[in-house]
Amino acid sequence: MDDKFYLTTPLYYVNAAPHIGHSYTNIAADCLARFMRLKGKEVYFLTGTDEHGQKIFRVAQEEGLSPREFVDKIAPRFVNLWGRLSISYNDFIRTTEERHKKTVQYVLQILYEKGDIYLAEYQGWYCTPCETFWTATQLTSAICPDCKRPLEELREKNYFFRLEKYRSWLIRFIENHVDFIKPLTRRNEILKFLESPLTDLCISRPKTRLEWGIPIPFNADYVTYVWFDALVNYISAVGFGQDEGKFKKFWPADVHIVGKDILRQHTIYWPIILHALGIEPPKTVFAHGWWMMGEGKMSKSRGNIVDPEEVVSNYGADAYRYFLLREIPFGLDGNFSESALINRINSDLANDLGNLYFRTFGMLEKYFSGKIPEVSSPHKVFKEKLARLPQELVEAMENLNFQEMLISIWELVKLTNKFIEDSHPWELAKAKKNTELASFMYNLMEILRIVTISIFPFMPNSAQKFWQQQGQEKKLEEVTFSELSQWGLSSPGTKIEKSEPLFPRIA
Ligand code: MSP
Repeated sequence: MDDKFYLTTPLYYVNAAPHIGHSYTNIAADCLARFMRLKGKEVYFLTGTDEHGQKIFRVAQEEGLSPREFVDKIAPRFVNLWGRLSISYNDFIRTTEERHKKTVQYVLQILYEKGDIYLAEYQGWYCTPCETFWTATQLTSAICPDCKRPLEELREKNYFFRLEKYRSWLIRFIENHVDFIKPLTRRNEILKFLESPLTDLCISRPKTRLEWGIPIPFNADYVTYVWFDALVNYISAVGFGQDEGKFKKFWPADVHIVGKDILRQHTIYWPIILHALGIEPPKTVFAHGWWMMGEGKMSKSRGNIVDPEEVVSNYGADAYRYFLLREIPFGLDGNFSESALINRINSDLANDLGNLYFRTFGMLEKYFSGKIPEVSSPHKVFKEKLARLPQELVEAMENLNFQEMLISIWELVKLTNKFIEDSHPWELAKAKKNTELASFMYNLMEILRIVTISIFPFMPNSAQKFWQQQGQEKKLEEVTFSELSQWGLSSPGTKIEKSEPLFPRIA
C-alpha cells in the first residue's frame, strides 16, 4: 500500500480577494488531507496562488501598483483566510517564487529540445478575463463563449505546444484509467471533447504585449502563458528537476481537486505536458461543481460574491465548513444562501450533534460527578452501525463524497440521541440501577469518542474542543483510523470538562 498521499488545489488568481468558491475547494481538500492523515498516510497538501498573466497585470495597473507590489499585497489574504478556516496545507506555492520559475523554464527547455514546442504565426481571438484563446471555428461572434465578454483580435508570432500529436495517446490513457477523471460525467464530457482534433496550445506571450510572466528560456522576447506556468506548480512544488528524492516520493499526485471550470486544462493540457516530459499523469483529477448565487456562478466579475471572512465571523469556521460539505454532493452545483446555512446549523449542529454532547456531559455530571464509569460492552442498538461506519467513511471518501460521509456519521448521532430517549436514564437513576446507568453512560462516552474522531476532518476546531472535554489524553492528531473500530478506549475515572454548548441555536 502506498503510504504517501499528495493532493493539490488549484492556484488561485490573485486579481481579487478570495471568495467562497475558492474556500470550497480548499475546505474539501483539507477534509481529505485530514482524513488521509487519520488513515496514517504521509500527506503532502499543496495550495497556493497564481500570480502572473495579463489579468493580474491589468488590475495592478488600475491600482497604481507594480505587479510585484500588487501580488505581494493580495497573496497574504489567501494565507490569512486559510488560517481562519484551519486549512492544514503542507506547502503554499506562489508562481512568482524562484523554485517554480526554475522548474517552468526547465520544463520548457526539455519540451523545446524534444520538438514539442514550435514557433508559428497566430491569428485569433483572445479573452483577457479568462486568459483564453479562441479560434474562429469555436466562435459565432467576437464574444467569449465562456464569460460573454468582448474578445480582442490578435495576430502575432508565438510558441505552441503540440497537443494534437498526443490526442490519441490521451484518449487511450483516459479509457484505461477509469479513476483519472472524476466524477464519471466529467470523464465522458472530456472523452467526447477529444473526438475532435485539438488546437495546439499557444504557450507564450511577446514581451511587447506582456512582461509579467516567466521568461521563455530559449527566446528572451517572450514570457510564458499563465496557464502553462501555473499547471507546472504541481511538479515544481515537489521538486521536479531540483530534488529528485522528493519528487520520486510524492509524484504522481493522488488527486488534483479542481472546479469544473478548469477541467480541460487539468485533463487535457496537463497530462499531455507530463507525458511529453516522460512523467506519469496524476492518479485522479476531481472536478467539483460551482456555488451559485441566484442564477449565476459566483465570481468577482459578476459582482455576486459572498465574502468567506464575513460568514466565518458570523457563524464560525466549523459551521461554515460543515455547511459547504454537507449541503451539496461534491461534483454538483448548489446555491448559497444564509438561510440554508442557518437551517443546517440549527438542525444538524445545534439539535443533533451539540445536543448529544451537551446532554451526555450533563448526565455524566449529574449521575457520576463527571467521571467516566467502568468499561462495559457496546449496546446492541449500536453494534451494526459501528461495524459499518469505518467502511462507509472509506468508501465515500474514495469518491470524495463528503456529503455521504456526514450522512453516515449523523446516522450514528441520531441513533444515539434516540438511544438516550429510549433508555429513560432518569428512571434508572431513580430506581438506583447503577450498573445499567453506568453501562448507558459508558456507551455514550464511547460513541462521543467515535463521533469526535469521525468529525475531526470536517470540523477540526470543534472536534478538538469535544476531545478535550472528554478528557482524552492522546492528542487527536495522533489518533488512528483503527481506533474507530475499537471499543473501550475511554478511560474509566477520567473527569470530563463540561462547557457551554458549542453550537447554540441561531434565532
Ligand atoms: N488560476 C487558475 C487555476 C490554476 S491551477 C494550476 C484559476 N484560478 S481561479 O482563482 O479563477 O479559481 C480557481 C478555482 O476556484 C476553481 O477551479 C474552483 O476550484 C474555485 N472556484 C472559483 N469560483 C467558484 C465557485 N463559484 N464555486 C465553486 N468553486 C469555484 O482558475
